[in-house]
Amino acid sequence: MSEAAARRIIQSISDSSMTDSSSATSAPTPSATTSNILMQDFSLAGRTCIVTGAARGLGREFLHAFANSGATKMACLDINKDQSTESCEIIKSTFASEHPGAPIPDVRPYAVDVTSEEAVTTTINQIISDLGPIHVLVAAAGICQNIPCLTYSASDFRKVFDINVNGLFFCGQAVAKSMVENNVTDGSIIFISSMSAGIVNKPQPQAAYNASKAAVTHLARSMACELATNGIRVNCLAPGYMHTALLDKVLELPGNPSDIWIENTPMKRLGEPEKDLRGPVVFLASNASRFMTGHELVVDGGYSCW
Ligand SMILES: NC(=O)c1ccc[n+]([C@@H]2O[C@H](COP(=O)([O-])OP(=O)(O)OC[C@H]3O[C@@H](n4cnc5c(N)ncnc54)[C@H](O)[C@@H]3O)[C@@H](O)[C@H]2O)c1
Repeated sequence: MSEAAARRIIQSISDSSMTDSSSATSAPTPSATTSNILMQDFSLAGRTCIVTGAARGLGREFLHAFANSGATKMACLDINKDQSTESCEIIKSTFASEHPGAPIPDVRPYAVDVTSEEAVTTTINQIISDLGPIHVLVAAAGICQNIPCLTYSASDFRKVFDINVNGLFFCGQAVAKSMVENNVTDGSIIFISSMSAGIVNKPQPQAAYNASKAAVTHLARSMACELATNGIRVNCLAPGYMHTALLDKVLELPGNPSDIWIENTPMKRLGEPEKDLRGPVVFLASNASRFMTGHELVVDGGYSCW
């Protein structure tokens, strides 16, 4: 897609949000020219964007967001090959229905277990050979277990750290190396942490998950300082409770904890990934956040304030 075509898509999104009746009491809308200039900072036109754990859930939302921001070359990396293929088809068909006539982005599935350093390296090399140098990585592959600390087995504890921390590091390291090798000097790496990096969730026990996310946040800060002079930014996106398809199953269980989660969230609701996370992830991926690195962007409806 050309830069001009991408700008037209972004402008149409901007125009439709301006005509939304819910904005009737909001601040006055900027002129088309002002908004054009601002929106260009958020454009991902010409940037190859890859997301791990994108076969479903938040990862897939991030790819949707990048497509809507002008990215035309994207990769969905996940351990689940069939779901990754399906995810790419969903992203393309959704884009086609939202932007009739616009060129469909090239979104490709790649099956990879992020805990295998070798598999990660091979996959990153394959993506570069298929799509060109990578500009944006979102590392979203992760798992959560609800097990009391007194009965946590060593193997379960290790598994959480292996995927959430080691696997995320292997991806971040491989992509950062590729950025240096390919002279990408405006790279953006986004680690998906969680508000659990800074608070302890209640009532469910999840010590390994919480500790793993604290590690992710500090890993981002550490890598950000090392890579800043290479023109690579490393930030964290730390969501609160998001209403994903996975959560639907939890909400159906008797005594589900969502009432407690909502009660403890100042905004009194769960997050809606398609509305609440697309903007923040595009902000971190794009030049709109060009002077930000090592930052943890918490998107939790205020949960961690209390
Ligand atoms: N959903 C929330 O409310 C929420 C809140 C805060 C943070 N997060 C974080 O966001 C990220 C995505 O969460 P989600 O809710 O979309 O979860 P999800 O379970 O829907 O998606 C996670 C994806 O990661 C993939 N995956 C798991 N292990 C893998 C491995 N070894 N290699 C490659 N892929 C693997 C899964 O196949 C799945 O597609 C996670 O890191 C999670 O901790 C989620």
